[in-house]
Amino acid sequence: MMAVLPLSSESMHSIVMKKTRIRSNYIPGYRRLLRLLFGSPSVETEAFGIHFDNPVGLAAGMDKKGENVPNWEYLGFGWIEIGGITLHPQEGNPKPRMFRSTKHNALINRMGFNNPGSEAMVESLSKQKAKLWASVPVGINLGKSKITPNEQAEEEYAGTLERLWEFADLFVVNVSSPNTPNLRELQAGSELDRILTACNAVNSRLADAASTNPKPILVKVSPDLEDNQLKAVADTAIAQGCTGIVATNTTTSRPAEDKVMNEAGGLSGKPLRTRSTEVIRLLYAHTNGTLPIVGVGGISDVESAWEKIGAGASLLQLYSALVFEGPGVNKAINKGLNRKLKEHGFNSLAEAVGHAHRS
Ligand SMILES: Cc1cc2nc3c(=O)[nH]c(=O)nc-3n(C[C@H](O)[C@H](O)[C@H](O)COP(=O)(O)O)c2cc1C
Repeated sequence: MMAVLPLSSESMHSIVMKKTRIRSNYIPGYRRLLRLLFGSPSVETEAFGIHFDNPVGLAAGMDKKGENVPNWEYLGFGWIEIGGITLHPQEGNPKPRMFRSTKHNALINRMGFNNPGSEAMVESLSKQKAKLWASVPVGINLGKSKITPNEQAEEEYAGTLERLWEFADLFVVNVSSPNTPNLRELQAGSELDRILTACNAVNSRLADAASTNPKPILVKVSPDLEDNQLKAVADTAIAQGCTGIVATNTTTSRPAEDKVMNEAGGLSGKPLRTRSTEVIRLLYAHTNGTLPIVGVGGISDVESAWEKIGAGASLLQLYSALVFEGPGVNKAINKGLNRKLKEHGFNSLAEAVGHAHRS
């Protein structure tokens, strides 16, 4: 029988996060050493007016508290997304709530947005910013507190966005986590419309006050939506002037042949790869490539990354592969992307986006 181990890994994860933070802050030369070992070659690109040294980002959920903001780039990430963060602090679901299938290179989680809440985040991010901040773009993933009913979801998302506005280069409205009851219902047209209207209003007001442009706002979708529902999300996002779509979050479906992975929660990693690519392909075709897509789900090597770019992803993210492949994964992917671009005669990553639709 396949082993599905409770990741005392949540504790492992916390230890690694803490050790990384302490070592990076206090051991001279530690970050330089990480860069030497794991730093990525440049694969420069631009999306929503932001420059990225390479397209591979840290997916939401890994640095939920944003405790290592300046450190991820030393592992070769071209950008990061911290959170999900909710307006109110919350514990999340009872433990254990993170599981690993080494056989399938997959994780199952039902964390339920455990996070310190937006107010505490302002304090900890301010302290960090005063010392050292990321030199790569920083996204913030916005979730919804369990105590906030769906009817008031727009106040929750816009409220968190307002508090954290100064810390983000972009925001992701996460209405697709399977681990908060009924959250995914917020992907439906009128619900999503209300949330984006409220977020846009706050974003514009703060941008005006700071005499700058509003920050990009993206919507993160579930791979479990039907095709027509995905198209409707894209239509709402476009109508609301959203900057892009993140495809995809984790899935509640399970690989058919695997009867053992019966823990409840969202599945990520290798088994998610194909569906997530399908979703990207569908969204790219539906929007004629007009809405930038961040591809995430089962990216673990250059082939899976290239597949997402071909399907229409302008940027990429990964989480599970960091667990299964280790910290060299970004360097390997970016090296491989440079090789692919050359082989296929593309002058830039942007030129390669959606290439599978044209061949
Ligand atoms: C433990 C864990 C926690 C996560 N938390 C969040 C989250 O707070 N917000 C979010 O939008 N996605 C979250 N995700 C989903 C990831 O950002 C990503 O969409 C998903 O894992 C698929 O990518 P992967 O196959 O590279 O892991 C989480 C994933 C895992 C494994």
